[in-house]
Amino acid sequence: MNYSKEQILEMMSDNSYPLTLKYNPDWILENAMGSHCLWLQESLTQNMKLTPGMRVLDLGCGKAIGSIFLAKEFESQVWAADLRITPSENWKRICDMNCEDKVFPIKADADDLPFADDFFDAMVSINSLFFYATGDGFLREHIFKHIKPGGEIGIVVPSFQHEYTNGLPEKYLPYMGYGIDKYHACAWWETHFLKSNMVEIVLCDTFPTDNNGNELYRKSACIFNAHEEPFNILAWDDITFTRIIARRKP
Ligand SMILES: C[S@@+](CC[C@H](N)C(=O)[O-])C[C@H]1O[C@@H](n2cnc3c(N)ncnc32)[C@H](O)[C@@H]1O
Repeated sequence: MNYSKEQILEMMSDNSYPLTLKYNPDWILENAMGSHCLWLQESLTQNMKLTPGMRVLDLGCGKAIGSIFLAKEFESQVWAADLRITPSENWKRICDMNCEDKVFPIKADADDLPFADDFFDAMVSINSLFFYATGDGFLREHIFKHIKPGGEIGIVVPSFQHEYTNGLPEKYLPYMGYGIDKYHACAWWETHFLKSNMVEIVLCDTFPTDNNGNELYRKSACIFNAHEEPFNILAWDDITFTRIIARRKP
């Protein structure tokens, strides 16, 4: 089903994310990459301590609108790192939003990040880590070392409500191309983080209030038409978002 512009704007006017309400919905729609990035970013910042001047890595930033959000709302310095969206493309968006003194676009592969160890005060990653960071040891070897001890790491990834240990239900097989074969449950992600031995968990949930993660996923799918309609219907029951905030151990 296609939604009218009025219906989409109505869905986007969610008071649970008051900072996001300041941003033009057309700008969000134009630069979305499958989910409502600002809602997810704000769900992290409601629980993280971001302060002016802090060095923050936004890994897999896509079109950098979440990075711009962090700079504008918290006056952080944000390194907007992505493998496929070019720095020049993001720089234009950054300048259009007057954030050129705070958001620094960079092409970077999570496999081999071009940053010093312990460089960042904090890191965020929205709707991205599940594509490349699920291998054993990946977080330890490639990601967490760039965040300084005591720094916070906040991520949101699409997830299953429960881990499917014996293969995915048949209804999902036609939709593997959407990355759904890389989804895991919240508890899986918590274990994956802890196995690094480098972090302690501050918060790990699926936006529990009224099963909010599933509601957010469903709304994102409607708003951004990220997937074909049959997928949306099949997905709604057992897909959610997992949110983790961890702190690098001293
Ligand atoms: C679904 S998009 C999400 C983008 C953005 N965070 C958002 O929420 O709008 C996933 C992003 O991860 C990036 N990505 C995929 N593999 C990557 C890798 N190995 N290193 C860095 N970024 C990667 C893609 O280029 C893409 O922009």
